[in-house]
Amino acid sequence: MSKSKSAYVSFESAFSDKKLGNSALCLKSRFIKAATYEGMADKGIPNQKLIAHHLSMVKGGVGMTTVAYGAVSSDGRTFKDQLYINEESLAVLKELADKVHDEGGKVCMQLTHCGYFSKDNSSKNLLAPSKIFNAYGFLSGLFYSKVMDENDLERVANKFASSARKLQEIGFDAVEIHLGHGYLLSQFLSPLTNKRKDKYGGSISNRSRYPLYVVDRVIRSVGPDFPVLVKLNLDDGIKGGFSLEDCIYVSKKLEKIGCSAIVLSGGFTSKSAFYLLRGRVPLKKMIKNASSIAEKITMALFGPVLVKKFKFKENFFLEKAIKVRKEVNMDLIYLGGVDSKKGIEKILSNGFNFIALARPLIHDPQFLVKMKQGRIYKSGCNRCNECIVEIDRGGVRCVLN
Ligand SMILES: Cc1cc2nc3c(=O)[nH]c(=O)nc-3n(C[C@H](O)[C@H](O)[C@H](O)COP(=O)(O)O)c2cc1C
Repeated sequence: MSKSKSAYVSFESAFSDKKLGNSALCLKSRFIKAATYEGMADKGIPNQKLIAHHLSMVKGGVGMTTVAYGAVSSDGRTFKDQLYINEESLAVLKELADKVHDEGGKVCMQLTHCGYFSKDNSSKNLLAPSKIFNAYGFLSGLFYSKVMDENDLERVANKFASSARKLQEIGFDAVEIHLGHGYLLSQFLSPLTNKRKDKYGGSISNRSRYPLYVVDRVIRSVGPDFPVLVKLNLDDGIKGGFSLEDCIYVSKKLEKIGCSAIVLSGGFTSKSAFYLLRGRVPLKKMIKNASSIAEKITMALFGPVLVKKFKFKENFFLEKAIKVRKEVNMDLIYLGGVDSKKGIEKILSNGFNFIALARPLIHDPQFLVKMKQGRIYKSGCNRCNECIVEIDRGGVRCVLN
């Protein structure tokens, strides 16, 4: 039996007001637009496309939309054009928040630091828990990461806390701290990338020490009413990585320190990227789109070996997510392979408090509204995953449209 106290919720009643975890925030529906890197920023400053993109999501019935991958500092970016929190970007983000509110929606910022997973050579300072070869960025001259010392740890934690506070001040409704997908805080959690011998490495209690410290710092900086969400891997999807057992341990700790809700996901971008997506690997298009000849050749040679395929299945993380559901009482947000009305009801009946969606809403921002009106029962997204390639071609979009 699930530990969740939530009663059965039908698809239709998921479109009513619901408080988010222990916070003061109320969403108009239980659906959340998951963070999907938009590619709608120039030199780190978001553009007007980003605003239009998120407004379309809110108009489509989600209670909250999540702006993806906001780096807490310029050296926390994976790519040069990636959004990062500074005065200029905050001005555009304020406009975004105001417009989302005018539509009756709420907006969350995903806060991240890439760690060693970067090809942004404007910063030579690759940070990570251990010394790691950067297979992703070495063609940009970024070979090995620097092992973070106490000063680095404190500086980055401060950046997370101050970024969250600034977003709160300009009217954002929530922040989501990225502890998954192989970025910096996930690099601490994973035994594959955390080889430290000090109090931050080894057992899960040690590996989670720094990520939990960062989340705690953020919670303290914004106060108890403001929702702090965490995106956490169920597992890394690769042998020897962060495990489901680790996930349950970290979830219990997050509950204790007052995190509002956990978005459950999985995968490690530099090692098992398609574990979190499933479906087709658009390798040919990725090669075509690579920025240099060297990158094209490297991807053509190593892509088929490195980019492992995972078959798509509706609600592909549900079985593992239910195991976490049984262990904590806090709000859990289901994410991964949501596809149909029936499938959504299955998630709700298993005690998940909210449901996040990515590709179905990229394919059609009106997906939920159409389903509510009985016009469709299933998403038209075929998981070709070409939306990923489009990020670098002017902004994320569905190629089927
Ligand atoms: C184009 C694209 C970009 C993504 N960018 C991010 C991101 O910036 N941050 C993140 O946490 N997840 C990102 N994801 C993963 C999604 O949030 C989600 O975990 C995944 O797509 C599975 O959900 P779905 O089946 O509803 O699409 C991205 C996914 C896609 C398709």
